[in-house]
Amino acid sequence: MADLRVAVIGAGIIGGTHIATLGRSRGVALCAVVDPTDAGAAQAAEQDVPHYRDVSDLLNAGGADAAVVATPNHTHVPIATVLLRAGLPVLLEKPVANSVAEGLELQAVVEATGVPLLVGHHRRHNPMVKAARAAIADGLFGTLVTANVQAVMAKPAAYFDVKWRSQPGAGGVMAINLIHEIDLLRHLFGEISEAQGLVSGAVRGLEVEDSAAAILTFANGGIASVVTTDAGCGPWTYDLGSGESPRLPVHDIYAHSYAGTKAGMSLPDAAFWTHPGTPDWFDRMERGTLDFAPADPFVGQMEHFGALARGDTAPLVSCADGIANMAVIEAIRRSAETGERVRL
Ligand SMILES: NC(=O)c1ccc[n+]([C@@H]2O[C@H](COP(=O)([O-])OP(=O)(O)OC[C@H]3O[C@@H](n4cnc5c(N)ncnc54)[C@H](O)[C@@H]3O)[C@@H](O)[C@H]2O)c1
Repeated sequence: MADLRVAVIGAGIIGGTHIATLGRSRGVALCAVVDPTDAGAAQAAEQDVPHYRDVSDLLNAGGADAAVVATPNHTHVPIATVLLRAGLPVLLEKPVANSVAEGLELQAVVEATGVPLLVGHHRRHNPMVKAARAAIADGLFGTLVTANVQAVMAKPAAYFDVKWRSQPGAGGVMAINLIHEIDLLRHLFGEISEAQGLVSGAVRGLEVEDSAAAILTFANGGIASVVTTDAGCGPWTYDLGSGESPRLPVHDIYAHSYAGTKAGMSLPDAAFWTHPGTPDWFDRMERGTLDFAPADPFVGQMEHFGALARGDTAPLVSCADGIANMAVIEAIRRSAETGERVRL
């Protein structure tokens, strides 16, 4: 079967990862780069594929079967809408939209066109996360009771020179980073039913937040605490321990911990904690490791996208998932503004 011809729209930080990933994934091949900048043209030349400055140029030229959208957050819905209406399956970077309302508009396009869309929460494609989810489904942890999540990173000031990253609606640590933690929490623990939040931009003084904390309630009655900042030093974030990003160093840390009635688990160190007999904190716990064969989740995501575009599978992260993640972010914001607990 011929490779699926995939265009990458937006050749910035993560667009570059997708371009490289296409070269390492089976059943797919880069066919074009769309980006208004000369840097985008240079990336296309390096890959020996056509360069277009606008999505309409790509569509007029033809030759693409599907597209990855890796453009700034506020452009996701308009660009994905044009592509879906042209019949091209889309791998859309997170967040699916800047708001739940916009996300629902996109959902309507997905439903009206019947063209598949996958949201780029790549962690779900990590075999470690698949093993964790399978262990939870198999009942190894019993009922999940609590989770504790940190997403701490020190971004250099220059990161915010790119305008959209400090613009309300598009930027801020919640839409850029925390949304990955929310997706992982929902994937492993279940749907979130309530949020109480605090949000601060005091350290950077930008128009967007640099830090947030939240307490979340799950549909099963479990609770989680979540803390994030892009302005504080510390390695306690999934991305700084998982080795998923080729650009980030790896530290021996965990950033997510889950306590169940039978056992506990932490990620991304993949640790599995059990008592020797009936759970009792007087007994020393034993540490095991989740059983999985490591593999690049970006490759897993791209190959899943290929299968999705061919109609062989359903999206592992759907538009509805992306909207549900954004609903939690909005609930945390609303709670921070009102001081009230927000029901989802
Ligand atoms: N999955 C992840 O782990 C991950 C990591 C980083 C970023 N992201 C997401 O990916 C997206 C891009 O983030 P980034 O940090 O790579 O941004 P970036 O600013 O580095 O790159 C965005 C690129 O899109 C181009 N662009 C802007 N408007 C365009 C348009 N209309 N058509 C075509 N190209 C256009 C820009 O020229 C730029 O090259 C964001 O939505 C971000 O949230 C996801």
